[in-house]
Amino acid sequence: MSQADSLQVFTPPADFVSQATISGMEAYRALCAEAEKDYAGFWARLAREHLSWKVPFTRVLDESNAPFFRWFDDGVLNVSYNCLDRNIEAGLGDKTAIIFESDDGSVSRISYRELLARVSRFANALKASGVRKGDRVVIYLPMSVEGVVAMQACARIGATHSVVFGGFSAQSLRDRINDAGAVFLITADGQCRGGKALPLKPIADEALAMGGCESIKKVVVWQRTGADCAMQAGRDVFWGDFVAGQSDVCEPEWVEAEHPLFLLYTSGSTGKPKGVQHSTGGYLLHAVLTMKWTFDLKPDDVFWCTADIGWVTGHTYIAYGPLACGGTQIVFEGVPTYPDAGRFWRMVQDHKASIFYTAPTAVRSLIKAAEATPTVHPRNYDLSSLRLLGSVGEPINPAAWMWFYENVGGSRCPIVDTFWQTETGGHMITPLPGVTPLVPGSCTLPFPGIQAAVVDETGTELDWGKGGILVVKRPWPAMIRTIWGDPERFKRSYYPDDFAGQLYLAGDGAMRDAQTGYFTITGRIDDVLNVSGHRMGTMEIESALVSHPLVAEAAVVGRPDDLTGEAICAFVVLKGVRPEGDAAKKVIKDLQDHVGKEIGPIAKPKDIRFGENLPKTRSGKIMRRLLRSLAKGEEVTQDTSTLENPAILDQLKRNVA
Ligand code: WTA
Repeated sequence: MSQADSLQVFTPPADFVSQATISGMEAYRALCAEAEKDYAGFWARLAREHLSWKVPFTRVLDESNAPFFRWFDDGVLNVSYNCLDRNIEAGLGDKTAIIFESDDGSVSRISYRELLARVSRFANALKASGVRKGDRVVIYLPMSVEGVVAMQACARIGATHSVVFGGFSAQSLRDRINDAGAVFLITADGQCRGGKALPLKPIADEALAMGGCESIKKVVVWQRTGADCAMQAGRDVFWGDFVAGQSDVCEPEWVEAEHPLFLLYTSGSTGKPKGVQHSTGGYLLHAVLTMKWTFDLKPDDVFWCTADIGWVTGHTYIAYGPLACGGTQIVFEGVPTYPDAGRFWRMVQDHKASIFYTAPTAVRSLIKAAEATPTVHPRNYDLSSLRLLGSVGEPINPAAWMWFYENVGGSRCPIVDTFWQTETGGHMITPLPGVTPLVPGSCTLPFPGIQAAVVDETGTELDWGKGGILVVKRPWPAMIRTIWGDPERFKRSYYPDDFAGQLYLAGDGAMRDAQTGYFTITGRIDDVLNVSGHRMGTMEIESALVSHPLVAEAAVVGRPDDLTGEAICAFVVLKGVRPEGDAAKKVIKDLQDHVGKEIGPIAKPKDIRFGENLPKTRSGKIMRRLLRSLAKGEEVTQDTSTLENPAILDQLKRNVA
């Protein structure tokens, strides 16, 4: 049966279509046809029209060293120039670039002119301390204007930033600093979330003390909470002292289009997170195009992306995209549930947000909150400023979609369900709000120029209606360039030999609707979990578990969860006897805390079960499919005849906690 038969279809409202930048299906088809006819010419035209180049490019796509594709590679530009200076030159100097709302509700507004001055001052300070083009700078900051300033300042001087999410542990921070060989760390004394001040600098100190971070020459500390923090003489400097006396004029470092703008570490199938390397020109082009086409951003919009700058969404749709389009955006420090779960709706009302982009997990938790506490239901707020909603990070279930549509969007605002990844730089499969009839739960059709397809194991394209593997058939400008320091892993992960190295493998399963060809993402096909929209490698969590002195062996799988999409479920063999009752509960808590310390709180397994062994095949491979059934509480239908000790199935079925 087709999606269209089973679910309602929402055609774009006429008043949206009439004003949309890409208006109507014919306009979308024309763009796709243009790309089909002359792929390089299509992207070249857009790169000329939407970016400001210091030196225009003459070469478009270089495939000679595939899959290490190069775009616009003899062109020269600067991202920070494109995000700040060119808007000011266009008369937007006094326009609000950022409306910042802190955890405690205080609000500040920063104009483009002020933002440029702050970025320039920080950029000059970095230069004065010896940071050069190509140096890696790790940013470990909470959601703040300073975070955006630090990223833009790196871009301005050609330093390659690597932002580490403020919820990651000392160990995770240490590993990322070490892998990137970073020379600078920019952090804060602490962060404010949900009315509480949490430490950051102490975690950074712990990371730096672990060894392997000797490349770090300086640590800049932004004083956010005012908490006492130890400062190492010669190494650590407060943000205020660092920028003191620096000029607020800084000539941008003009870099070639392929220059690495940033690294962002993300989880893969194997234990070690991979440093996804992004370019300057191609990346920025996609950030701009998706802001204009997917979000239909207009001069009067107030755009709000609720992501953290520690994730790719916060890179493309906070630090770069909105600024590169001269937009006004909200940056929020806090959490959606403080002081109550009406926070998002109150902020939309107060700041008259017109475009609101968030994650399905947030929507689901706010549905639950609104059911429990009617006063925080969106109906209590004036949300009439909204004209467009967006969703990202995980599949949005149709029920959450409908609630979002009706209660937040007033049945008036299209929802763009944007499928993309850290590796893709920006939206890949997404509705365009003035074009695409919406079907809840489907990310619909590829962004113009993106050649997404569903194939079988041999790389053969499947008929619509059949589930398979999601791939992209042609390189696109914003794609990942390599994995930092591991080009072989880049090839293996994304251009595997199975597909003759010709297809980009997203790592997701997908299906196209039999009638409409709309895409639905069916979930990861590798050992990556998606918990509340955060990517986690099962092997990463397993290695964290086995680093605990009590643990002999561990296997981690995901199971569906109503709130978080997937939940982490760990099966653990301890070195001593298998604990029961209260003893088991205590070990579970210890192991959860241990994973929290090794990776970060987001990686804590929700369920932990103990067995005397794990179910394995004769060749010793852990039977993960079977574990997934156990985690879900399903009957085990797999062949278990090869199990050495079938009694362990009963042990692993039980949830002691
Ligand atoms: C999943 C986040 C369904 C998918 C931007 C992908 C989605 C992974 C969607 C990337 C969506 C993201 N519908 N699934 N709209 N958006 N995903 O790198 O499994 O943190 O591979 O990038 O999230 O997560 P990442």
